[in-house]
Amino acid sequence: MSTWTPSTWRASPALQQPDWPDQAALDAVLARLAALPPLVFAGEMRSLTRSLARVCEGKAFVLQAGDCAESFDFSADSIRDKLKVILQMAVVLTYESEVPVVKMGRIAGQFAKPRSEPTEDLGGGNLIPSFRGHIVNDDAPTAEGRVANPQRLLQAYHQSAATMNLVRAFTKGGFADLRHVHLWDQPFVKSSPQGQRYERMAAEIDRILRFMGACGIDLDAAAGVNSVDFWTSHEALLLGYEESLTRQEASTGRWYDCSAHLLWVGDRTRHLDGAHVAFLTGVENPVAVKLGPSATPADAVALCQRLNPDAAPGRLTLVSRMGATRVRELLPPILRAVKASGHPVVWVCDPMHGNTYVSPSGRKTRNFDDVLAEVQGFFAACREAGVWPGGLHVELTGEDVTECVGGSEAVLDSQLAERYLTTCDPRLNARQSLDLAFGVAELLRN
Ligand code: PEP
Ligand code: CO
Repeated sequence: MSTWTPSTWRASPALQQPDWPDQAALDAVLARLAALPPLVFAGEMRSLTRSLARVCEGKAFVLQAGDCAESFDFSADSIRDKLKVILQMAVVLTYESEVPVVKMGRIAGQFAKPRSEPTEDLGGGNLIPSFRGHIVNDDAPTAEGRVANPQRLLQAYHQSAATMNLVRAFTKGGFADLRHVHLWDQPFVKSSPQGQRYERMAAEIDRILRFMGACGIDLDAAAGVNSVDFWTSHEALLLGYEESLTRQEASTGRWYDCSAHLLWVGDRTRHLDGAHVAFLTGVENPVAVKLGPSATPADAVALCQRLNPDAAPGRLTLVSRMGATRVRELLPPILRAVKASGHPVVWVCDPMHGNTYVSPSGRKTRNFDDVLAEVQGFFAACREAGVWPGGLHVELTGEDVTECVGGSEAVLDSQLAERYLTTCDPRLNARQSLDLAFGVAELLRN
């Protein structure tokens, strides 16, 4: 019998935790969270694990996408538009490659941010604490705003619940019906080359569905047509929050982190002896780990042994984020070592976090060409190693932002300031996201 409990992580060093100024206030909030309802249920996590096991077998592909950091300034429109672009990408991937797509958002809980520096320099040595996501402090660059406030944990929980509710309504209540494939396109996308390509594909899908209807197939009763399964995920960074939302299933005695379906640990917190990995070892959710350039083949194999000792397919996803110029050099030895160890893994490519740079105009950005190049390098490395390139992890928004440069209707460096709205990392806009989906579909088809 395992001795793991949701607080076991407290015995290990926990990196990236905020400096909460008032421990009693934090403890009161965590106790309150522990008494609030779960956001997701154990049966859903098991169902997602089964879907991810299909990815392990090379029979499906995962699309995990959403904001770098969700904002407290949210609306039904922004959730709907994000969902639209993810549904569009998924339908492009499925239609063009004939591979089923597991759809997952960085949504309904993706608030906390790990930071490279604990402080931000406002100039002239005027240091304030870094922004750590709206679940911790405010993005506005003032010393008061950057004080960690535990009330924000509660606000994040309630926003996650509201977001989850809307996501469930959209995906189960008719909006995600394949017969609405035209409605997911946004006006600012429709006129672009990739929008027109999407429209042609959507017209084909319409025709096929009408044909099926004419053949007597009841599309209202067909689960894959009138609704979709859409899963939530976020980085398990603030371990007190995750602990409070971890619940024991009465019928099995197993622990589930009910803050989201899938939790991952980031590249900065994936240490084998660290608190984040210690926490994830005990929850039954499917889990993921980001692997950046400093990850070694031995690290990857050790993470498999630690997080998935029973070698259960679908339990563990490894997310490579090496950067476009380094993926061909760094990923192959890791793929080979994990394959040789016999551990079943879902291999996913995050082509965003290894390709961030500061543009000449001074904004943090990413170039669409680097993003696509990293995905191409990832596919090539997987093919050589004989493993299935199982998925894509991206930061995007449904809004018409100018945060990443490039794409077929290119955003220029000089345009970055026009609609640079992210609270953290630069996201692909809906046009760039569709562009990427067509590019990835081509790789999957080959
Ligand atoms: C992220 O996913 O936003 C992130 C910080 O990623 P990584 O841990 O890969 O740097
Ligand atoms: Co990010």
